[in-house]
Amino acid sequence: MKPETKMGAVVLVLFTIGAFISPVRSLDNGLALKPTMGWLHWERFMCNVDCDTDPNNCISENLYMQMADVMVTEGWKEAGYEYVCIDDCWPSHQRDAKGRLQADPKRFPRGIKKLADYVHSKGLKLGIYADLGTLTCGGFPGSLGYYDIDAQTFADWGVDLLKFDGCYMKWTLLGEGYTNMSIALNQTGRSILYSCEWPLYEWLYHRPDYAAIRKACNHWRNFADVYDSWDSVKTILDWTADHQDIIVPVAGPGGWNDPDMLVIGNFGLSHAQQESQMALWAIMAAPLLMSNDLRDICPRSKQLLQNTRIIAISQDPLGRQGYRTAKVDSFEVWERHLSGGRLALAVMNKQEIGGPRGFPLTLATLPSWKICHPHCNVTQVLPSYKELGVQTVLSKLVVVVNPSGTALLTVTPI
Ligand code: GLA
Repeated sequence: MKPETKMGAVVLVLFTIGAFISPVRSLDNGLALKPTMGWLHWERFMCNVDCDTDPNNCISENLYMQMADVMVTEGWKEAGYEYVCIDDCWPSHQRDAKGRLQADPKRFPRGIKKLADYVHSKGLKLGIYADLGTLTCGGFPGSLGYYDIDAQTFADWGVDLLKFDGCYMKWTLLGEGYTNMSIALNQTGRSILYSCEWPLYEWLYHRPDYAAIRKACNHWRNFADVYDSWDSVKTILDWTADHQDIIVPVAGPGGWNDPDMLVIGNFGLSHAQQESQMALWAIMAAPLLMSNDLRDICPRSKQLLQNTRIIAISQDPLGRQGYRTAKVDSFEVWERHLSGGRLALAVMNKQEIGGPRGFPLTLATLPSWKICHPHCNVTQVLPSYKELGVQTVLSKLVVVVNPSGTALLTVTPI
């Protein structure tokens, strides 16, 4: 069978996103008009509080100061990465006499305000973590009963982003809790980007109310924590595609679905898999929050994370999330509508045996290829940059995709 016939024979999973215009109001704090970019400690550094034996990698002010330094000197800030974010395990186990959270005094001897000042002096922003229940997931003090005090404390310290987790909370109170913290943050008068995990915890019981979530949060985690493995990244992509009719229409400037951190530059992904994560996170209009060690990262991973063409897709001003359009012969095709009538296309090769395989771009494999009528201009962004020139719907263009890698293209109608 000719490849075209074989591909055409496979059922195309079509998704008529073209009809969507996001009807849902976003959180009106003027933030996250494009997917947030930055660094977040959790996946790589977790709850390492042992600064005696592991001073370089423990959760301490030094870690964030060093990341901020490197973000400026190594081109990360210039590429658009802006937020340096603390995750769990930063606080002391005791609140202070006025009921305020305080940083662990041994690991953060100068306190969070000084750390925020330092991060701001580098032209970057500081993120922090708290939890709407009685304890954080790591067992540190939760914010239940303290939302106003905690929001004010974060504002007083000069914090720019709050990741608000949902452990140790009765699930029926999730909506109330996330909404109340959103109000508390707004009432401080400081612009604090609000990153929620509301739907993740709600999906365990029922389908979340995404209109309410978008009204309260700037981004929201839907699904389980990312791990440093291809299995984990694939599971997140599958979950996202399986729920795209529910979650994609809600995303747009001011509010984004968050498939969790980029684990590029760590230990678990091959280079092709890192390219897949980067390409698909850009297609999904996902926050680009790296969790890796920027002080020690391989040059290829760094180049990938700083690739301006991929970042431009992620940050496209139209602000529409992409989605999966087809599963064809163990390839997956994803696309994202970009400003100026352009399209970003990702073709992922999910066959984990053999070598690179060709995928023909035709109307049968991707209906939106019709934007190439009468002509279009195609640029390959991954796995290597290549101008593929002017094409028509009848061109026999074949992209070559590495096993568990992704070919990322932009298509401009002429
Ligand atoms: C949960 C969150 C993670 C991380 C940890 C911290 O698992 O989903 O992203 O914040 O808690 O304990």
